[in-house]
Amino acid sequence: MVAPTLTSDNPGLEVLAEVAKVLSSGRPADERLAEVVAVLRRGLSLRRCRLWLRTGDGSRYIPITTPDDEKQVPGYANAVSAWVATGPHRESVAGATLLRLPLVHDEAAFGCFEVIIPQGRHERIAHDVLVVVAQMLAPLLAAHDLSQDLVSEVALRTRELEAQRNFVARIIDSLPVGLYVIDRAYRIRAWNRKREAGTQGVSREDALGREVFEVLDRQPRDLLKLEFDRVFTTGEIQQMEMDSLATGEPRHYRITKIPMRSDDDDISHVITIGEDVTGWRQAQHRLAQSEKLAAVGQLAAGVMHEINNPLATILACSEALALRIDDLPEKERQAQQEYLHIVDTEVQRCRRIVDGLLDFSRPKQSSPKARVDINAVIEQTLFLLKHHDRFKWLTIDRQLGDGLPQFPADSERLVQCFMALMLNAMDAMNSRGVLTVRTHRNPQRADEILVEFIDTGTGIRQEDLPKIFEPFFTTKQQGRGTGLGLSVAYGIVEEHRGRIEVESQLGVGTNFKVFFPVG
Ligand SMILES: Nc1ncnc2c1ncn2[C@@H]1O[C@H](COP(=O)(O)OP(=O)(O)OP(=O)(O)O)[C@@H](O)[C@H]1O
Ligand SMILES: [Mg+2]
Repeated sequence: MVAPTLTSDNPGLEVLAEVAKVLSSGRPADERLAEVVAVLRRGLSLRRCRLWLRTGDGSRYIPITTPDDEKQVPGYANAVSAWVATGPHRESVAGATLLRLPLVHDEAAFGCFEVIIPQGRHERIAHDVLVVVAQMLAPLLAAHDLSQDLVSEVALRTRELEAQRNFVARIIDSLPVGLYVIDRAYRIRAWNRKREAGTQGVSREDALGREVFEVLDRQPRDLLKLEFDRVFTTGEIQQMEMDSLATGEPRHYRITKIPMRSDDDDISHVITIGEDVTGWRQAQHRLAQSEKLAAVGQLAAGVMHEINNPLATILACSEALALRIDDLPEKERQAQQEYLHIVDTEVQRCRRIVDGLLDFSRPKQSSPKARVDINAVIEQTLFLLKHHDRFKWLTIDRQLGDGLPQFPADSERLVQCFMALMLNAMDAMNSRGVLTVRTHRNPQRADEILVEFIDTGTGIRQEDLPKIFEPFFTTKQQGRGTGLGLSVAYGIVEEHRGRIEVESQLGVGTNFKVFFPVG
């Protein structure tokens, strides 16, 4: 007999503990046998696990087997007597080891284990475990007449157990989330398909049975251990969020660690689920933004009369004063004219702010929308801007795509939106620069049109990027910008069920991308 070489940190102990638990469970013998085969198969990652048992009359051996293996059995069922007679046998088969181990009790052979063990560091352990399990099974087998009935009953139960297991495995694999399970020794016991996918994915074969810290070696060991320990000690679900660049682009994940309890209510495992919530978070962000815009709209609706009326009065007064200016002596006239001019331009500015604010209070989905040609809207905007003083200095590079589908839109509102974006580009390019206006289908999604405004201006500071769509955020000197252009543009794009994205590099330029669904 080979002396077992089990040490405390090997998975064999756990398998043995599980087998012992099954055998002492008081369930019917056939159920226990089937469960033992299943435990060995799973716990030792066996590719094949057949337990050949001698029939009650001693005439032949019958496999306690899984459905997959059954197909291959008939060919060499008779050979089992020979294996039992010749003693333990091992040979290499395609990266694995085939092991045949006779089961002997009271010097009489009662069966044979036929297993295929993946080559690797657990091979020896698997061997030793099988030797011990053979000894554990002997009393059970000796106490029962292994009639044909029992054997086929065991085969049936095994099939049911496997089917049940496969079903559960398929459920776990179908989940659109990454899922893995660790035990008390932090060893990985389940690893779903989603965790295998992607450049950072690890195959199930490489993950199962290993310590989680070895597999997830990019995460700090202490921190990860602390997270698992918290679940083991508190028994509570833990949730956290994290950003990751593992896929090459920034993604946001919600990680949930769930305690799993054994029959005796102890926490035996921790299930970890990783969900990609990038889209959800962006939607939250957009919702917060539109709520903010709506609040500005309500405020604007409330104050517009209050402000418009005094503005009208101021304008009327300044016009009345202008009429009397000729009566003034020459010296005073010039100074007064200047004051009146300032009053006039400042009142106009107030009007623009109020108008800008009013945009937010317009009811969404206003007028029924006609189908528009995006290139025509761009041309119309460029035509209006042509007369702007500073626009003359810019080079406009039109890259307008052919054959783009028309889509329902409010072309006036789109002009207003594109105007805000192009005026910003113009402001960012104080000296001569190039503004590229491109329309095309979104290369990533055929059901979207993509309009890009690419400037060679100052660029936007990284810390300002999250703020530029906020109402009243401006970096322009006082009197130049109200900080409403982009928030109005945002609202307009949203009315068209589209979205805006920005890429910017300081000193290089900025690209505003506007996506419109056309499907
Ligand atoms: N193309 C761009 N290049 C560089 N910075 C930009 C660009 N577009 C927007 N910004 C930045 O975003 C800020 C907000 O833009 P937004 O259009 O909302 O307001 P504004 O241009 O400052 O004022 P308003 O448009 O109301 O006159 C700008 O002040 C600027 O800092
Ligand atoms: Mg602006």
